[in-house]
Amino acid sequence: MPRGGSARLPGVSAGDVGPDDRPSELRRAVAVSDRVSILFVGDVVGGLGRRTLLALLPGLRERLAPTFVVVNGENVAGGLGITPKLADDLFAAGIDVITLGNHSYHRREIYAYLDQTERILRPANYLRSQPGHGWCVVEREGVKLGVVNLSGNVFLRAGHPAFAEADAAVAALTKAGCDHILVDMHAEVTSEKVALGWHLDGRVTAVVGTHTHVPTADARVLPGGTAYITDVGMTGPRGGVIGVKKEQAIESLVTMMHVRFDTAEDDPWLNGVLISCSGPMRAQAIEQLLLPWTPPPA
Ligand SMILES: [Fe+2]
Ligand SMILES: [Fe+2]
Repeated sequence: MPRGGSARLPGVSAGDVGPDDRPSELRRAVAVSDRVSILFVGDVVGGLGRRTLLALLPGLRERLAPTFVVVNGENVAGGLGITPKLADDLFAAGIDVITLGNHSYHRREIYAYLDQTERILRPANYLRSQPGHGWCVVEREGVKLGVVNLSGNVFLRAGHPAFAEADAAVAALTKAGCDHILVDMHAEVTSEKVALGWHLDGRVTAVVGTHTHVPTADARVLPGGTAYITDVGMTGPRGGVIGVKKEQAIESLVTMMHVRFDTAEDDPWLNGVLISCSGPMRAQAIEQLLLPWTPPPA
């Protein structure tokens, strides 16, 4: 079972520029001078979240011209998990890497896909015996981006410590010649995410938090050059309770009884960040993207 690996993107770097035989110093110099940016989109929730992402992505590509697009997709299948078809749909839309989280294994049909598909990641600090892998490398325009998915250890089930696994993944990706590394820290508590940002500052390009579905107002570039945000937020129905119909969430909290949860359908927004890179493993800016979407009339 692979724990990581590289993936050449079909029709992009492999076909357009051929194998990158340039010395690493030259490739890094290009990575410094070229305009490299990463669009990261927070947890995409349900069909409305998918439609919001797919509707807004072409305009974002035109306006921001991101080199890479990374999406957290742990909620795309009706709010819980992801299926092979839905993952294929995201890849077909040009998403470079899909990260996941605590809902990675909600849909059993994704297990083999997680083992076989390099560019979809479950948290790297899960057990080796669990399906999938936690980091990968993608390449566009001669620039190598390593992506790492991690799970927090507080209030979430992860078999290994996030910080130790982060160090191991960053060492492996640096050794693999990555120009930039993006870490998606999928965690419940803010302190774990803030601490990981400081821990990796200067060693990776960006640490972005996911899972709580509520965007935080602390996006910044840390002193060592790592872009950081505690939570990117979610892409989907803002008119619910972190993606669930608000009436059902309220009823469960009022009655303290089990209530069936459905995905909300009101007020779709895209929550994301654009990370503008400078030198290798360095960001010069992180811009928060909080964008409403008006669905076309039915
Ligand atoms: Fe989520
Ligand atoms: Fe989550």
